[in-house]
Amino acid sequence: MERIAVVGLGAMGIGIAQVYAQAGFRVVATDADQTTRESALARLRAALQQRVATGKLTEATLEETLARLTIVEKPERISDADLIIEAVVEDLAIKQDLFRQIERHSGPETILATNTSALPVGALAEGLTRPERLLGLHFFNPAPVMKLVELVAHKGTAADALTRARALTERAGKVVIQCADRPGFIVNRCARPFYGEALAMLEEGRSASDIDAAMLAAGYRMGPFSLIDLIGADINLAATEGLACAMGRHPRYHVFQSLKDQVARGHLGRKSGRGFLFPHAPGATPADASAIQLRIEAMLANEAASLLAEGAARADDIDAAMKLGLNFPRGPFESARLLGKDAIIAELARLKTAAPPALAGRYQAEPALLDLL
Ligand SMILES: NC(=O)c1ccc[n+]([C@@H]2O[C@H](COP(=O)([O-])OP(=O)(O)OC[C@H]3O[C@@H](n4cnc5c(N)ncnc54)[C@H](O)[C@@H]3O)[C@@H](O)[C@H]2O)c1
Repeated sequence: MERIAVVGLGAMGIGIAQVYAQAGFRVVATDADQTTRESALARLRAALQQRVATGKLTEATLEETLARLTIVEKPERISDADLIIEAVVEDLAIKQDLFRQIERHSGPETILATNTSALPVGALAEGLTRPERLLGLHFFNPAPVMKLVELVAHKGTAADALTRARALTERAGKVVIQCADRPGFIVNRCARPFYGEALAMLEEGRSASDIDAAMLAAGYRMGPFSLIDLIGADINLAATEGLACAMGRHPRYHVFQSLKDQVARGHLGRKSGRGFLFPHAPGATPADASAIQLRIEAMLANEAASLLAEGAARADDIDAAMKLGLNFPRGPFESARLLGKDAIIAELARLKTAAPPALAGRYQAEPALLDLL
C-alpha cells in the first residue's frame, strides 16, 4: 500500500490525514509547531470518536485508523511517501520554501501536492528541480466530509503524476475533478456570482431575507447571505478580492461596498454573533422569487461559461463540482438549461442595460454560454 504524507496539521491537514488513514493508507505527518504535532493524534481520535458515536465506525476500526497515522518532527522523515500533500499557511514564500526542502529529500517519483485555495500552483513549482511532479489537490472544509477534491494541473504537471494522484485520492473515497491552474479553480471562481448578485440586489434595496428565501425556494440548501454568515464575511471578502486582483479587476469580480462595510463593522456572521441575516433565518418567500433566482442563476451560468471558454474544465465537471463543493441542487449549466436560453439571454441583456456604466461589462453574455445552450 502506498504511503501518504501530510505537512501542516491545522484544520485542513488533520482532516486530509484522516481521509487517507480511514481508507487504509499509512500516513506520516508533520507540522512546524510542536503543540500542533503533539495534539494531532488526540484531535484525530476526537474526530473519529464522533463517527463511532453516530454508528459510522466501530471502536476497532477507530484504533486501526489511528495506528496508521505517524507524527514525525522532521520533514525529512516523510521523504519516502508516494504522495506528499502540504496544508501549511496560505503564504507563497513559505510554501515554495517547503517544497524545495521536501524535494531535496524525496525520490524522483514522489508526487508533491498543494492544498492551496488561492495561490497559483505554477508559482509553487518555480525553482523546483522536478516541477512536473507538483500538482494541486484542493480539499474542501471539512475534508473528511466533503466529497470533492479539485485536482489542479499547472502547465508543466506530468500526466502520470495526475493519474496517480487521482487514483490514490479516489481510493480514499473522493470525487476528483480536474481543473486547470486558473484563479479560484472551479468552485471558488464559479461561486462568485452567487454572492455578488445577491450583494448587488441588496445595494439596490432588496432585503437579505427576500434574496435568501428566494434561493431556498429554488432548491438551494442555503441562501447567499446565510452562506456568507456561515463562512465569515471577512473570508468571503478576501476570496472576492483575491479573485478580482487575479482576474485583472474585471467587473465580473466586482467587490461590492456592502460586503466591505459589513467587514468594517465587524459583522462577520456566525463567528461574531451577527451577520447579514444571522442570528435570524430567512423569512417568507417573496412574490418575485423566480426573478431573483433567474438573475443569480443566469450569472452563475455566465461565469461557468467563462471558465469553460478558458478550457479550464469540462462542462459536466463544472456542474458536478458546484453540486459537490457547495451543495448546490443543480450545476450552473443544468440550471441554465432548465431556465432556457431565451430567458438567460434576455436577463443578461436587461441587467447590462440597468447596470451603472462601470458594471455593464459584468453582464456581458459569454459566447461559450450561447453555444452551449
Ligand atoms: N480552512 C479552509 O477552509 C481551507 C479549505 C481549503 C484549503 N485550505 C488551504 O489549506 C491550507 C491550510 O489551511 P488551514 O485552514 O488548515 O490552516 P491552519 O492555520 O489551520 O493550519 C496551518 C498549519 O500549518 C503549520 N505550518 C506553517 N508553516 C509550516 C511549515 N513551514 N512547515 C510545517 N507546518 C507549517 C502551522 O503550524 C499550522 O498548524 C492553506 O493553504 C489554505 O488556503 C483551507
